[in-house]
Amino acid sequence: MKKFVLSNIYFGGDYTPEHFGKEVMEEDMRLMKKAGVNIATINVFSWGQLQPDEDTWTFEWLDEVMNTLAKNGISADLGTATASTPAWMAKKYPEILPIDKNGLLFYHGSRQTFNPNSPKYRELSKKLVRKIAERYKDHPALCMWHVNNELSHLVNYDFSEITIKKFQNWCKEKYGTCENLNNKWGLHFWGNNIYQWDELMPPMRTAHQVSTTLLLEWKRFTNECYMEVARDEIAILREVTPNVPITTNFLYEFKTLDYFAWADMIDFISVSSFPDPKTTTHPGEAALSHDFMRGLKDQPFVLLEQAPSQVNWRKVNVNKKPGVMRLWSYQGMAHGSDSFMFYQWRASVQGSEKFHSAIVPHIGENSRVFKEMTQFGRELPSLKEVLGSDVQADVAIVLDYNNWWTVEFTPGPTALLKYLENLQAYHYPLFEQNITTDIISYDRDMSKYKVVIAPLLYMVKPGFKESVEKFVSEGGTFITTFFSGVVDEMDRVFQGGFPGPLSDVLGLKVEEFEAMKPYINNSLVMNDKLPNVSGQFESRLWCDILQLGTAQSLAEYGSDFFKGTPALTVNNFGKGKAYYVATLPGNEFMRQFLRQVCAEKGVKPVLEATEKVEAVVRSNKDNEYLFVMNHNYEPVEVTLPDAEYFDLLTQTTMKGTIRLDAVQPVVLRKN
Ligand code: GLA
Repeated sequence: MKKFVLSNIYFGGDYTPEHFGKEVMEEDMRLMKKAGVNIATINVFSWGQLQPDEDTWTFEWLDEVMNTLAKNGISADLGTATASTPAWMAKKYPEILPIDKNGLLFYHGSRQTFNPNSPKYRELSKKLVRKIAERYKDHPALCMWHVNNELSHLVNYDFSEITIKKFQNWCKEKYGTCENLNNKWGLHFWGNNIYQWDELMPPMRTAHQVSTTLLLEWKRFTNECYMEVARDEIAILREVTPNVPITTNFLYEFKTLDYFAWADMIDFISVSSFPDPKTTTHPGEAALSHDFMRGLKDQPFVLLEQAPSQVNWRKVNVNKKPGVMRLWSYQGMAHGSDSFMFYQWRASVQGSEKFHSAIVPHIGENSRVFKEMTQFGRELPSLKEVLGSDVQADVAIVLDYNNWWTVEFTPGPTALLKYLENLQAYHYPLFEQNITTDIISYDRDMSKYKVVIAPLLYMVKPGFKESVEKFVSEGGTFITTFFSGVVDEMDRVFQGGFPGPLSDVLGLKVEEFEAMKPYINNSLVMNDKLPNVSGQFESRLWCDILQLGTAQSLAEYGSDFFKGTPALTVNNFGKGKAYYVATLPGNEFMRQFLRQVCAEKGVKPVLEATEKVEAVVRSNKDNEYLFVMNHNYEPVEVTLPDAEYFDLLTQTTMKGTIRLDAVQPVVLRKN
């Protein structure tokens, strides 16, 4: 993948001067300069202000915004305005309105109210995007395109006649005959076979469950539909402005779209990142999100939306305490973010988001949030040398959307199975020990890693068995878990025992599995065959009962009718090892187990672990940058690796043991 590096560390926010009037815009320019803002995201939801009816265009206000930004040396992340449709459109072309799974219409009056497959929406949005691109293609303020906004976030699926027909055609093209589709999807179950293409229905409201393969294919289809929406816009932007980079903002913990499939379409990944600032939030939550965003292109990315303080859409919206916005921004940079943009510049006076924080709160510049933002904005230029540097990781965790979807919609064995929680179960203990992790797709080359972990790899797609076997036989360490190797890419169970195609590399078969009620635990009793991990640990959620082939047991279950049978195994395969974790162990086991597995492969922590102190290294051909972040609300002492460092934020030299204030980050260039 070609590497894209931004020309600047961008700092700014979503800017809607059209809500405030001209006088405020002058004041905004003064404040933006004071805070060191160099970018504004504009025009994201303003189609209704650009085209009051089908034949009238009112670009003058946007010209003025663009000109004012340029005059003040501020760049524009220019939205294509397609994320919110104007009122006349719904009235004139009701086909643009999406329909939910109950067959009910989403009416006009909010945002993102469009059917991605409506030819009218697609025609009108392309017209709009071309007008915007042509009008501003040479404008000095234009520095990047912001396509639509968080596509599919609010309307995940559309069930209109238009979309149903398109889905039927998509299936016809893919399967050729209804008989083939019946067989591939297992539609003989409950007699759901179809004999004509127009009998095929998407998963709308039904009396009971529908085919899980139908659900899977429906999600794959919907992902492609939203990709077409983005592709329409991107094609126009590439044609009119071939040199202007393009992004569209993604969301973490959002599983409707398969972002790995999207990554190639855009120049850089950008994300809306809103971890809950309550003090109990694990700092690994954001770290995992950032590792994921970096992993989509295996490149730096952009934090395109963060909240300066609180949001307005949780039940209870907690503020970011003093210093946390800055700490979390540097945490983003440590994991690969090359810019910092916020939602939003100035707090709204009216509407849904008037109690969402902003760089300029209602009280104005004389406020904690504005002052913290100004301090942060002023120190960013000293970090320019970090731009484009890479995060080095020896450990990778596989994330696969098809698995995410299927394990969560498959009825049984337990509704408590949450895909991301199982990824976190491995990522957090690594994070806590300062072992940096890449998040990779199932088909990414594994050879650059020493350890690859694929938690809950329920679906094993063609090619994965071969790449794991190659990786392990050449010396890699592979770890997978219970409920892996269960189905193929059509959600069809592998016959002859799980983990199906992974049985050889793991040297075992699963004979039975049991889901555990939340208040029932089992335990994992170590048998001293795994060095440095001994004793007894918690096991919950699930127990696989195993039949071992060539694998060796490293721990056994402590109770139930399968007491004394293997719960953790290892198999030597070629020059490497494959571990199988047959249950969900608690964090203490994970820390010790992963530390041992990493140590065996020579994977070292960036810094010795101190509770809630995070360390990550970014490097380029000239320098290595050590980011150390104190996530504690009190000071800590940390001993740096044996070298001399230059702190880019305070411009001082450091070595040995340093003191970090509460929530203080440092960015240290190794001398
Ligand atoms: C999302 C949207 C923004 C805004 C923020 C509020 O990220 O893109 O328009 O609604 O949430 O947190």
